[in-house]
Amino acid sequence: MKLAVIVGARPQFIKMAVIHRAIQKNNQEKSSKPIQETLIHTGQHYDYGMNQVFFDEMGLPAPDINLNIHSSLQGEMTGAMITSLEKELLAMKPDCVVIFGDTNSTLAGALAASKLHIPIAHVESGLRSFNKKMPEEINRIVVDSISDILFCPCKNAQDQLKKENVSGRIFLSGDVMYDSFLHFKKRAKTPKIKEPFALATLHRAENTDDLIRLKSIFSALENSPIPVLLPLHPRTKKEIKKNGIILGQNIKTSDPLSYFSMLGHLAKSSFVITDSGGLQKEAYFSGKPCLTLRNETEWVELIDQGFNKLVGTFEANPETAFKWAQQPIVNFGKIYGDGNAGEIILNKLVDHLK
Ligand code: UD1
Repeated sequence: MKLAVIVGARPQFIKMAVIHRAIQKNNQEKSSKPIQETLIHTGQHYDYGMNQVFFDEMGLPAPDINLNIHSSLQGEMTGAMITSLEKELLAMKPDCVVIFGDTNSTLAGALAASKLHIPIAHVESGLRSFNKKMPEEINRIVVDSISDILFCPCKNAQDQLKKENVSGRIFLSGDVMYDSFLHFKKRAKTPKIKEPFALATLHRAENTDDLIRLKSIFSALENSPIPVLLPLHPRTKKEIKKNGIILGQNIKTSDPLSYFSMLGHLAKSSFVITDSGGLQKEAYFSGKPCLTLRNETEWVELIDQGFNKLVGTFEANPETAFKWAQQPIVNFGKIYGDGNAGEIILNKLVDHLK
């Protein structure tokens, strides 16, 4: 069986690593049929700290193909990816294309494969923010509607796909990010920071590309009761520079963190402030309260169960939000599976493609 695995953006390298491990395990078992994996990198993320460091840390093979496509315009980037992916997929003739999450690389992979009638497996399916201003939400809706095999990380995602009556087969697999967290947490790189700190990330276009939102987030972070460590996504760095924003003393910026360093910072932080989808869950896996810099989230179960609080740009009661975040999390449960989503996904894929 030939699988074309398509990645492009930082969180996808982590998710892909889980499937890669499951494929390797399958190929070591004498009774299983070997699976041929071809890794295609669109090039969406390309800085060392956003890309190669993840391959190095997790010991991943270099992509078989790198399309080297990156651009800040949504349509231009996605269009160029579709054109190149179509050529590669035509030459490769895989039995299935595997895509992850909700990025432009995910959308391009799905569109290119669907026109060539190649089955599409979508990992991290069924999530919705119900905010169509986010490019990611459009990507999710389109990708789920044309995918053949949809792997849901949690029950809410599965229910959503059933409600939408998607034509593909739906499976509740658990979350590959949880598999990854369990697998790599012993390799976390702990920072040598003595004082308590909050760990923050900020990169969503709806926050970074709206100057009023961006400034109000920074002014709230400045008022955090403990210092805020903010590893800067290139998009956020560009906006800070472009708008001549000067950050206050309470915000300490750094380059983007590697995955293992992020796990170490999470473990040592007092709480998390983020607009990232992945970090909201990693905060939960690490037992840290999370303040989410958005008006809605796809991970509603974290809100419902009291692990996460939506704060928007902190316009209402920042003191109450910070106070909440300084209380320890109780009743940590298992919402995202048992840490074996990768194997579940691969087994279902093999069965489905027989
Ligand atoms: C993308 C995904 C988002 C995901 C995020 C993870 C889409 C629509 N969004 O957002 O879902 O959560 O990745 O980080 O696909 N840049 C660099 N160096 C890099 C990478 C990006 O300078 O290594 C620049 C780009 O050129 C661009 C900006 O940062 O100007 C934003 O990058 P882009 O790929 O558009 O989306 P992200 O904000 O990273």
